[in-house]
Amino acid sequence: MAGQISIVYLFLILSLFYFNCVSEKVTYISVEHPRVSYYNPKFLTYANLTSVRYGRANPIYYVGLNFENILPFDTSIYIDVYFYELLTNQYKRSFIEFHFNWCYLVEKDMFFGSAIRSAGLTRPCPHLPGQYNLLNMTINPSVIPRGFPFTRGRIYANFTHPKTKSRVADGYIDMRLASIETKNPKTLFL
Ligand SMILES: *[C@@H]1O[C@H](CO)[C@@H](O)[C@H](O)[C@H]1NC(C)=O
Ligand SMILES: *[C@@H]1O[C@H](CO)[C@@H](O)[C@H](O)[C@H]1NC(C)=O
Ligand SMILES: *[C@@H]1O[C@H](CO)[C@@H](O)[C@H](O)[C@H]1NC(C)=O
Repeated sequence: MAGQISIVYLFLILSLFYFNCVSEKVTYISVEHPRVSYYNPKFLTYANLTSVRYGRANPIYYVGLNFENILPFDTSIYIDVYFYELLTNQYKRSFIEFHFNWCYLVEKDMFFGSAIRSAGLTRPCPHLPGQYNLLNMTINPSVIPRGFPFTRGRIYANFTHPKTKSRVADGYIDMRLASIETKNPKTLFL
């Protein structure tokens, strides 16, 4: 009898240990120091990027994009994203780049678009003039390719309107490949 009880005890203790201590190591893209370096007042009243952390326990920076567009944002707006690598104090353009139109970005892209959707922009295109506040955005670690080729760099995003040969906005954010031990990645990355 005593032996049986101690086996049950052991099992309980082991399962508590398992649920409390087993965490997985997740590689993610940490982003910091975002900046809108240009916006065109014909398209936007304002545009800014923010990054915030929520407390000491959580190292992740959550990105916010706030803007007010004057013209509808639709497939006529193109986004070119360039990853630069930090090499001996200089950012050098790498081979990683993405090109899409606004509607593809918001509706389909998994890398940045899923963050935009989880921040609440789930209405389909076009996005009519108005104020948009997209908060708490992160790049989901599950979409980062294995063997991402560098650990420090900067992500540039240039928005243009090719029909009128106009720049719409340019911005960038510093990036670092980081890893975190977590029991539940779903609560960290939205
Ligand atoms: C960004 O825009 C939002 C919305 O207009 C504003 O509340 C916020 O203060 C701005 N932040 C910065 C850093 O300019
Ligand atoms: C952003 O995340 C923080 C921390 O989880 C939460 O308190 C806040 O309400 C969120 N804001 C929005 C607009 O979802
Ligand atoms: C993106 O915009 C920045 C700032 O305007 C500019 O310096 C850079 O050359 C542009 N990148 C490309 C690849 O066109």
